[in-house]
Amino acid sequence: MVYQIYPRSFADSESGSEEGVGDLEGIRRHLDHLVWLGVDAVWLSPFYRSPMADFGYDVSDHCDVDPLFGSLADFDRLLDEAHERGLRVIVDWVANHTSDRHPWFLDARSSPDSEHRHWYVWRDPAPGGGPPNNWRAAFGADVPAWTFDEASGQYYLHLFLPEQPDLDWNHPPVVEAMHGVLRFWLDRGVDGFRADAVHAIGKDRALLDDPPDSAGTPRSSTNDDPATHGLLRDVRRLVDGYPGERVVVGEVYLLDTAKVAAYYGQGDELHLAFNFPPLYTPWQVDAWRRRLDEVEGHLAPAGWPTWVLSNHDNPRPRTRYGSEARARAAAVLLLGLRGTPFLYAGDELGLEDAVVEPARALDPGGRDGCRAPLPWTAAPGHGWHAEPWLPWPPHSRQRNVETLRNDRTSILHLYRRLLAARRASPALVQGDMEILPTGDGVLAWRRSDAADVRVVAVNFTGDERSLTLPGGRWTVEVSSDGLEEGRRWLDRLGPDAAVVLRPS
Ligand code: GLC
Repeated sequence: MVYQIYPRSFADSESGSEEGVGDLEGIRRHLDHLVWLGVDAVWLSPFYRSPMADFGYDVSDHCDVDPLFGSLADFDRLLDEAHERGLRVIVDWVANHTSDRHPWFLDARSSPDSEHRHWYVWRDPAPGGGPPNNWRAAFGADVPAWTFDEASGQYYLHLFLPEQPDLDWNHPPVVEAMHGVLRFWLDRGVDGFRADAVHAIGKDRALLDDPPDSAGTPRSSTNDDPATHGLLRDVRRLVDGYPGERVVVGEVYLLDTAKVAAYYGQGDELHLAFNFPPLYTPWQVDAWRRRLDEVEGHLAPAGWPTWVLSNHDNPRPRTRYGSEARARAAAVLLLGLRGTPFLYAGDELGLEDAVVEPARALDPGGRDGCRAPLPWTAAPGHGWHAEPWLPWPPHSRQRNVETLRNDRTSILHLYRRLLAARRASPALVQGDMEILPTGDGVLAWRRSDAADVRVVAVNFTGDERSLTLPGGRWTVEVSSDGLEEGRRWLDRLGPDAAVVLRPS
């Protein structure tokens, strides 16, 4: 299981340069908690130098730590201490774009003849004036993916904010430089990368208009150019050339599982790819059955699946699914499926999104709610040294690490039991998956690996459901409501409940 940390919101110490913003030292101080929980690896969202237009996804130096988060020495210490505890560390690699304040872009903008001009995508205005094509940027409604540069009379491309100009991966020095970034962190000892918006790095040189059916959709969610595959094969070779097990998990933000599967290549592109359709799937049995079928049908033949229900870009599951009972059932689902699960920090506390008043809103993409700070203790201040940069999530006096660790019936303990059960079961970690016939409203599947077997069942309804299983007697190993664990399975699944069963 990979645990995603959004450094601004995880934990602060006195070492970062700004009060109320989390930092690397804050993360280091909580490593033992992550071990207690049962985390295998952490993914750190960007902590690099950045003007923070996109809160770190606008990088102005890929090879240094922003003073906000500490220093390279803090990073090295965090990495060492994570490794001492058996935790792997994956860092974000923002490959598609840089900050507009990156020295490369400052130089590119300084003159059409500058050394770095062709590191970015510049085009003359369309023949009648205006942007070179009809591509739309992410964030905001109907914003062109092009910004005009008065000085040179040309436009530059940005699939995200104007402060995030796209690099031109058709230009070999860009490939060299971004490989250099990978080497920099691999040499420091990281276990891999989460490659940001990596499906977007390859671009068709002609930059043709989007066709009518996708015109108006942000290009960042449709760009699927064949050139990306060759670029990813080079990345894979580079990363696999390092000793030990290193991983690249790509953010392939194409909302189509068959398309995502292509980014595994022939086992020679991404090691893992995020597949987002499940994240956008309502808590509804038929919809989820379709998702499981799609992953087993399209993705599993191409490579090992991932499961993501949450991240720093989307409302949390507790908010989307509407109740703690469902958030608990979703925990069983996430950790019972075949593939590597990603858990966004705070979901294990059952956090809801914070309500952020318009006056306090900061993110141009409207994603502040899920980025609220993690409450560590019950007392006001919740273990932070200063008032955090965003408001607390609801009910922080109850939903905080301290209170939930002291309550064995809490969702936090549910996650811990699930992770322990997973670790102890080869079937859950790596076994096959077979969907079982069930009645209305219930989804159940069998995971099996050699002699080890588990059944996972989820009741998507608010009513009790019966579930009879073939093949002998079963024992409740973990249940989302904590009831009946260790007892014989009596063929009844409670409302909004989910279970992991083992043979008796
Ligand atoms: C990815 C990140 C998101 C960011 C965007 C641009 O989608 O997850 O937070 O805004 O890329 O870097």
